[in-house]
Amino acid sequence: MSTILVTGGAGFIGSNFVLDWIALENDSVVNLDKLTYAGNLQNLASLKGNSRHTFVRGDIGDAELVAKLLTEHRPRAIVNFAAESHVDRSIHGPAEFIQTNIVGAFTLLEATRAYWNGLDDAAKKAFRFLHVSTDEVYGSLAPTDPAFTETKQYEPNSPYSASKAASDHLVRAYHHTYGLPVLTTNCSNNYGPYHFPEKLIPLVIHNALAGKPLPIYGDGQQVRDWLYVKDHASAIRRVLQAGGVGETYNVGGWNEKPNLDVVHTLCAILDELSPRADGKSYKEQITYVTDRPGHDRRYAIDATKINRELGWKPAETFETGIRKTVQWYLDNQEWVTNVTSGAYKEWVQTQYRA
Ligand code: NAD
Ligand code: DAU
Repeated sequence: MSTILVTGGAGFIGSNFVLDWIALENDSVVNLDKLTYAGNLQNLASLKGNSRHTFVRGDIGDAELVAKLLTEHRPRAIVNFAAESHVDRSIHGPAEFIQTNIVGAFTLLEATRAYWNGLDDAAKKAFRFLHVSTDEVYGSLAPTDPAFTETKQYEPNSPYSASKAASDHLVRAYHHTYGLPVLTTNCSNNYGPYHFPEKLIPLVIHNALAGKPLPIYGDGQQVRDWLYVKDHASAIRRVLQAGGVGETYNVGGWNEKPNLDVVHTLCAILDELSPRADGKSYKEQITYVTDRPGHDRRYAIDATKINRELGWKPAETFETGIRKTVQWYLDNQEWVTNVTSGAYKEWVQTQYRA
């Protein structure tokens, strides 16, 4: 049986990807994750005892460990999710972002190059390194600018997006210089199950139910393009299967929404599914707070290329996906309680002075 190596597979998108992969594909998965505050083995609880999933706690920046895993498991592909992913945290402390997103990605690429060079011709040809990146590397759009295509100039504005841009460039260089068969995906904002409640959508659901303020940065008119996480996972599977070596693919949901609209939608669904005891709307909890420094105004993904060349399109609309997401949080309050204990409280204190 063949194997793929997934990094960061205990995080939000990685764990959704691994769960779907095991359900839908045949390869085994070796899942390398450092288990930072964002990594959570509870996300993978349903795979306990499944011989097709091997979890390894470790760092993509640990060259020896990565080399050992590659020699032992001989994967046919690597999917790199591992990263520090939260923009606000990158503003408070960028060092970890440089370490994992740039130095870690470089170390992973070096180990991959050595492993790939040692494969026979057929295995070398079939091998893929898929790097999961973000639309944030393209910078910020004005209201009437066209959506990001794959040829848009990189203009990252936060330490997070700059670190992701650096890793994208390294991935590109390893293809051009060494011939490593790489693929890159640049995706818009994901939402769905297992989303850590430091990010807008899960934070708002969590705070609403806890009777806490729903913090809106600035005027709340910043626009993001939302994609249900399972659609991101299906896009990655498709790119891995049929993507052109050395190509990049933008992945998005064609769902541009101002933040305030997203929060109003969440409040309306919660009003319906889990109404406040006093009969008032959760909208009453909306609070405007200081804006994020350097806050990008608008992201929008043009996902024409992946549709035209690989036939991929999202299965969920924003309306169906967001309803499923709210229901998931209502049904999984124990997961929320577990992830919001301990270190989470310190983060909320730092960011919102709550
Ligand atoms: P996340 O923060 O939820 O998960 C990141 C995972 O990586 C965690 O499990 C963490 O423990 C692990 N990790 C961190 N440093 C590591 C290291 N040095 N070695 C091994 N594992 C490490 O992030 P996410 O939202 O699931 O994002 C996954 C990837 O997708 C990231 O590369 C991110 O840049 C990209 N992305 C995210 C979004 C989004 O909306 N969340 C959109 C586009 C792209
Ligand atoms: O675009 C893809 C990116 O989406 C990914 O690369 C990142 O890993 C991911 O974290 C996400 O980044 P954002 O900064 O867009 O996501 P976040 O959920 O942090 O914020 C979404 C928007 O909501 C953004 O405009 C900031 C705003 N916001 C966020 C929080 C946490 C608020 O108004 N209030 C909040 O409390």
